[in-house]
Amino acid sequence: MQQPEPRWWQTGVVYEIYPRSFADSNDDGTGDLAGITGRLDYLEWLGVDAIWIAPFYPSPMADFGYDVEDYTDVDPLFGSIGDFDHLVAEAHQRGIRVVVDYVPNHTSDRHPWFIESRSSRTSPKRDWYTWRDPGPNGELPNNWISMFAGPAWEWDEATAQYYLHMFLKEQPDLNWRNPQVRAAMFDVARFWLDRGVDGFRIDVAPMVMKDPELRDNPPNPSPPSGHHMGSWTRQLHENDHAHPDMHELYRSFRRLLESYPGDRVSIGELYHPDYAVWAGYYGERQDEIHVPFNFHLTYSPWTADAVRGAVEGVQAALPPGAWASWVLGNHDQPRFASASRAGRDQARVGMLALLTLRGTPTIYYGDEIGMVDVPVATADARDPLEHREPGRGRDPERSPMQWDSSPNAGFCPPDVEPWLPLAADAPSVNVAGQAEDPDSLLTLTRRLIQVRREHPVLHRGDFEPFGPTPDGSYAFRRRSPAGRLVVALNLSDTPVTIPSEGAGQVLIGTHRDRDGSLVDGPLQLRANEAVVVEER
Ligand code: GLC
Repeated sequence: MQQPEPRWWQTGVVYEIYPRSFADSNDDGTGDLAGITGRLDYLEWLGVDAIWIAPFYPSPMADFGYDVEDYTDVDPLFGSIGDFDHLVAEAHQRGIRVVVDYVPNHTSDRHPWFIESRSSRTSPKRDWYTWRDPGPNGELPNNWISMFAGPAWEWDEATAQYYLHMFLKEQPDLNWRNPQVRAAMFDVARFWLDRGVDGFRIDVAPMVMKDPELRDNPPNPSPPSGHHMGSWTRQLHENDHAHPDMHELYRSFRRLLESYPGDRVSIGELYHPDYAVWAGYYGERQDEIHVPFNFHLTYSPWTADAVRGAVEGVQAALPPGAWASWVLGNHDQPRFASASRAGRDQARVGMLALLTLRGTPTIYYGDEIGMVDVPVATADARDPLEHREPGRGRDPERSPMQWDSSPNAGFCPPDVEPWLPLAADAPSVNVAGQAEDPDSLLTLTRRLIQVRREHPVLHRGDFEPFGPTPDGSYAFRRRSPAGRLVVALNLSDTPVTIPSEGAGQVLIGTHRDRDGSLVDGPLQLRANEAVVVEER
């Protein structure tokens, strides 16, 4: 049977931009939209097919833009709507699609909808948010906790009720069971679709609808220790997360996207440990979220066993014909090249895996040069999460992009203080230096993207397990009528020999001296080495 032509969001590589931290065009120490436009030539050179830009909407910035005060404008810190239109036009001219963040779960407490909702119990917008009376002794309406620690309810003195906020109290949750909310938020999507965006990354997609009776969550009988989600793991999120009613919502959201010309995409932020629940967001007829992000490689330790478990777990859970996605990091997780994750030596192995697995890869800005976390003391933290639950702050992975070896790394002028401190290694780890260096991670990333484009088997080919392979290593095969490739990863710091009978040639490896070399029989991999072998 003829396979349908793959869509851009299946073959393409997505690049996530945290706009505060990418490039500052107006010398105020904070990145902005014109800064991104100024770096589109770099992104075109790198070869990415799409950018996803984290929120740039007007916001009091309690959660750095994930508290939206106006969904249909640009915060002056980031520029103007004209700057946005210019960015989209310039990106499209270079063949780069633009995906924007859609934050449906909550607004800012300064959004006019919330101000009106809060104004009185009889406000026409009261029901746009979730308001509840206290219990007979002043108790909270239920036991839900904020993902950012503490109770998920805030008392409103003026109207003597609590409102629900699954994140900060400055981020009240919208009530999507109210049809007016849905209509207003669908209009928000139309606003950006009409301006030419190619799709949305849906923030906390599985949280948007909760149990209508707001029943308590059961406690987690065995909360993991030292988990990055901290106190959130003390409950089983049966009633505030992944409610089945969301499926109908995402079906209609998809219909909205599909009513527009072009291939508009929805990418869902879907942190869910259960593969079946995660896979459910494709929809029974694959009519819900186009690309449910899977974060299994982000939370798994970077070991061969865990990577095998995550890759094969995802492949097994995928509904027939569904398209996977892969991500190693984002603005909420420690950087992949940091010692707490994979470390510098494995950063190359991770990039090779990310760009050769079956599914859409998303690269977090700076991971292509191996940026690492930049520590920020709790007292100096910008991220409110660090103050609420020390250790969980996300400033370290949001440090300014390292463009060159100048004092502020080309992010902002040398005499301006960047909004977050730059990495100490910026003089040696930066785009300008690595672009010139044939052995750099940046050169490897760019070549991997090229090889992926030149060998469609790497994006559209089937996935097959390969092995068994020795401890510390993992391998898989990609196959299409046009060819077969083996991707072999050594995730350890000792050499391994991968048993293999056939002959082939190394198409690309983490170490350039392997490129083009012939393989016949067992495949020797050095410490921290990975290769893609074209089988004969
Ligand atoms: C998502 C975002 C995160 C934000 C949260 C609340 O998880 O990625 O940065 O703080 O939602 O909007």
